[in-house]
Amino acid sequence: MAKQRRSDRNPFRIHGVASGDAFADRRDEVARLETALTDPGAKLMMYGPRRMGKTSALLRALESVRRDGGHALFADLSTASSAADASNRILGAAGAALGRSLRDFITDLVSKLKLSVSLTADPATGLILPGLDLQARDWDAERQRQTIGDVLDALNAMARKRKICIGIALDEFQEIRRFGGEEIEWQLRGAMQRHHHLAYVLSGSQEHLIERMTASAGAFYKMVDKMRFGPIPPGELAAWIDRRFRASGAESDAGRDIVDMAGPRTRDIMQLARVCHDRKRGAERLGTDDVTDAMREIVAEEHDLYHSVWRGLTALQQNVLRAVAAAASGLTSRDVLRAYALGSSGAVIHAVRALTKAGILQRADAAPDHPRSAPTGYRFDSPFFHAWVWWNTLADLGPAFAERVRENPFTYRTK
Ligand SMILES: Nc1ncnc2c1ncn2[C@@H]1O[C@H](COP(=O)(O)OP(=O)(O)OP(=O)(O)O)[C@@H](O)[C@H]1O
Ligand SMILES: [Mg+2]
Repeated sequence: MAKQRRSDRNPFRIHGVASGDAFADRRDEVARLETALTDPGAKLMMYGPRRMGKTSALLRALESVRRDGGHALFADLSTASSAADASNRILGAAGAALGRSLRDFITDLVSKLKLSVSLTADPATGLILPGLDLQARDWDAERQRQTIGDVLDALNAMARKRKICIGIALDEFQEIRRFGGEEIEWQLRGAMQRHHHLAYVLSGSQEHLIERMTASAGAFYKMVDKMRFGPIPPGELAAWIDRRFRASGAESDAGRDIVDMAGPRTRDIMQLARVCHDRKRGAERLGTDDVTDAMREIVAEEHDLYHSVWRGLTALQQNVLRAVAAAASGLTSRDVLRAYALGSSGAVIHAVRALTKAGILQRADAAPDHPRSAPTGYRFDSPFFHAWVWWNTLADLGPAFAERVRENPFTYRTK
């Protein structure tokens, strides 16, 4: 097979986490995470919408902690089905991250644990990794919850003995409630408070759960610093995209259009940039039309799915989506109610709630400065579904709208 030329490779990644030079600068966030992971006793809760790049930033911070000689582990709790599973994740991550860099780490860890653990050789790295005995998954809930505290206590004792700080990054932290209820949160609060040699970064994407945990009746009230993880500033990301195009041999000033059409979610922006790159022929300069064409391609690929979602909605919900896609003012303003046949404002609020619950719409105040913050106060979760609604359903409203769609291919720009 012919070796791929450098310029043939797509520089925009949409699978897995972004790393290496596919990671666009998140200087401030990464610096803050790095500080939190190396500051004994620190507790930082990072939260933000899905696919924004939280895991990528967290892993980037861990890499940099390790490069500077620090100690940190990363455990993803998203798939855990029980507290025992979560303990296993943390134990395994501790073994993998610290087993090589700290002498006798694993034997020491095992001796400090009050639990019985088994050791298994990891075929990929050759490291001997600790895990709870298999029966642990069958223990009662209380005993299982206890295991997480025990594992973290052991890590804290080791960090104290060695006079180091161990950073503990727990990704998709909100999942603990799913298998451990509120009790596990209070138990962890107690454990974390006594760990002066560990530094915690807890990260989550279910914002309402994170908010509940840190509200005044929640287990982590006033115990954690909070860090909201938002979009990469549009100008910075646009410049980064153009640089990436240039480095792969394509002239581009389309970065800003890509960010404006796809934003604010990092994953969507990368997806659009990736298709722009795939479509590019020769070395001509990439511009707005190319971005619109790439958008059309993505939307066409998803047409069947979007069409069936649309057909599953009530007429009022469909009209609300048309209004969010196209309206110039609030959903309950008289003009909008009339132009989009929305009936009463009460009915609209009800429909909006259902669409938000279904993950189709979201409130726009999360990123008020972003061009995608629609004047209605809501925006589509997916820019691609937004574009589908714009291209396929506005003509139903009559020739004036059809004309508008023809004139304005699709943009989130607020003029
Ligand atoms: N800094 C970045 N530079 C370039 N692309 C990024 C960056 N951060 C995220 N991405 C893009 O977003 C995708 C999702 O990133 P990541 O998994 O880190 O997000 P997340 O917020 O943890 O998502 P989830 O809510 O699904 O856990 C990546 O595959 C990549 O395409
Ligand atoms: Mg993630």
